[in-house]
Amino acid sequence: MAAPSPKQQSSLRVDDVQRLVVVVDVRGGGVDYDLIVDVLWRFEPVAVSETEIDAAAGAQGDPATDGLVRLTAAYKAAADAAGAHALLADAGARLVHGDDGDWVSNWRAAEPAWVVGGFFLRLPEHDRGNSELTDLVIEPSTTFGFSHPSTRLALELVDIARTAGTEVVDIGCGSGVLAIAAAKRGATKVVGVDIDEHAVAMTNANAATNDVAIEAHVGSTELVAAQQFDLVLLNVTAGTSFPMAETIAHLTRPGGTLITSGILAAQREVATQRFGGFVVTAERSEGDWVALQLQRLG
Ligand SMILES: C[S@@+](CC[C@H](N)C(=O)[O-])C[C@H]1O[C@@H](n2cnc3c(N)ncnc32)[C@H](O)[C@@H]1O
Repeated sequence: MAAPSPKQQSSLRVDDVQRLVVVVDVRGGGVDYDLIVDVLWRFEPVAVSETEIDAAAGAQGDPATDGLVRLTAAYKAAADAAGAHALLADAGARLVHGDDGDWVSNWRAAEPAWVVGGFFLRLPEHDRGNSELTDLVIEPSTTFGFSHPSTRLALELVDIARTAGTEVVDIGCGSGVLAIAAAKRGATKVVGVDIDEHAVAMTNANAATNDVAIEAHVGSTELVAAQQFDLVLLNVTAGTSFPMAETIAHLTRPGGTLITSGILAAQREVATQRFGGFVVTAERSEGDWVALQLQRLG
């Protein structure tokens, strides 16, 4: 598949995005702002942007808006926006639905390139500069998979995993970022599956941009159930990954590696129990998020 032109790469399907706009009153300290942000991220938004309403409105010092922060989260599915909305209702946030104008392009303009282990993770419009790190050019479009902590933590573990000459599967490949990283580090066969067909299209497009071969398919573990892999990548929420733990173990060759991310710190112990046929060989954390690298026993 030919790489899309740069113009196509940077056009987002804004119309497909469900926006949830949350106005948080941070005066008086009665609101758990971190909890609100955490809830927004739990439903796998494409992005979350934050503006101080004062600054945005040019009305510094207006007591009507002073201390209000607008968080705008974008979800691919209305059900995710509704799920976040339902959880937020008790968290003290004032919720407003609506279009927040040009926030998607604002998000891109503010997004930096990231150095993640030995990878240089960037949007197509970022300059690579003189970096000698492994270049990863990722167009997330409306897929999950650019700079969320769960992606970056998983990427850090890919960086230290044995990848050269391996067979790899990425369950829930999203933008393809993890699969592409493994391919760039010399994996000989890389398969990605995702239940979202747009994610599979973006994995294909990003693979072409990065000049690597990924076999990407719409679906889930059933598509690869007859195979075993040296490295299994699994960055999905715990609600998705825990029930598939047994299937994931079958997909992993004995002695092979599983990298699982999307785990909240409070879920870490349960994760190690669910993946009981594995031992933890490395882990990374950032804020509330944890990623584990595990080796399948014997
Ligand atoms: C958190 S995103 C991770 C994307 C990418 N791997 C990354 O690290 O940035 C999870 C992805 O898994 C997909 N997904 C969710 N449930 C799935 C399932 N049961 N099987 C396959 N993919 C799934 C979603 O569509 C989404 O693209």
